[in-house]
Amino acid sequence: MKEYTKKTSFTIYESIADLAKEDSDLLQQAKMAVEKAYAPYSHFQVGAALLLENGEIVIGNNQENAAYPSGMCAERVAIWSAASHFPGVVVKKVAISVKSQMKMIDKPVAPCGACRQSLLEYEVKQKEPIEIFFMGEVGKVIKANSLQDLLPFSFDQSYL
Ligand code: THU
Repeated sequence: MKEYTKKTSFTIYESIADLAKEDSDLLQQAKMAVEKAYAPYSHFQVGAALLLENGEIVIGNNQENAAYPSGMCAERVAIWSAASHFPGVVVKKVAISVKSQMKMIDKPVAPCGACRQSLLEYEVKQKEPIEIFFMGEVGKVIKANSLQDLLPFSFDQSYL
């Protein structure tokens, strides 16, 4: 028997203003996507913006449904849109922001497990890490250098 430790590293920025311009611009795109979310049931709006290697920015936001499980998270709307419009183009970065109609969210909101798994699929496929930035409506920003940092012990094609 041997015990192991897995380490995750990430950076915390005090605010969006502390990011490099390319990264704060991408988060601003995520914030614009937040405004177009369709979240009449949870009243919790999420926006995601992806920066691709070809310079394109692809956005997504959560799309809810009266049949609740039929809705979809912002991150998966964005990554599948990118994969549909630009198949095979490397995804460099993803930025995520949120807005609740119920309360001010002032801490970074991490993507759900299913979205991490869906984003990781493309990181594995492209053999290049995807940088990920996430925040609340205001406040600190967390940056991880790779989806692997957010999803240790992920399931990937190597098992199949
Ligand atoms: N949501 C996302 O869009 N991304 C996540 O990573 C977590 C949750 C959405 C789904 C639903 O529309 C609302 O937020 C509340 O769960």
